Amino acid sequence: MIRANNHQDVVDFAAASDVPVVNGLTDFSHPCQILADIMTIEERLGAVEGKTIAWIGDGNNVCASFVHAAEKLKFRLKIATPASYAPKTQELAAARAAGADVTASHDARTAASGADVIVTDTWVSMGDADKDARMAAFPPFAVNDDVMAAANRDAIFLHCLPAHRGEEVTEAVIDGPRSAVWDEAENRIHAQKAVLLWCLGKI
Ligand code: NVA
Repeated sequence: MIRANNHQDVVDFAAASDVPVVNGLTDFSHPCQILADIMTIEERLGAVEGKTIAWIGDGNNVCASFVHAAEKLKFRLKIATPASYAPKTQELAAARAAGADVTASHDARTAASGADVIVTDTWVSMGDADKDARMAAFPPFAVNDDVMAAANRDAIFLHCLPAHRGEEVTEAVIDGPRSAVWDEAENRIHAQKAVLLWCLGKI
């Protein structure tokens, strides 16, 4: 397993390796996190297929993995980001061409409307150098009670952690009854055990 800033480093390493190489997070994607997130959604709400997931905040690596998962697992994905931090258009186009139901906008409440799951992430990820610009752009995308109120009544809140209370999520939401972040964090280990079993040909 490699955690790298540069996704191409992992691709190059895998191309030269005789054994499985797991992406443990890159600047491009974070598939291991999404496995735990999907597991948490299914524990709380049942099958993810047909559910609506709203990604609010940065169109970053974790967001990209939700786009990839939407294609494979048939959930609806509604993304809301500032215009300057939108997910890559080629990623969205490729997912849509493969049948994924993915929309991208710049309004948090529009994305949250009708969602079963609200997900966000830190506004400044590992390797991001433009902290001041980010802190100026992201406040309208904070997940607060208003955003949660636009979602379905039973909607849950997810965050891959570490979180910054008072920035991308309010204390009331992340520590409130709809937050599933601690189950989500626990599920990282269970989902990663499954990845290892899959690499070993056991499942
Ligand atoms: N987007 C975050 C995820 C941390 C688990 C980062 O790349 O830093």
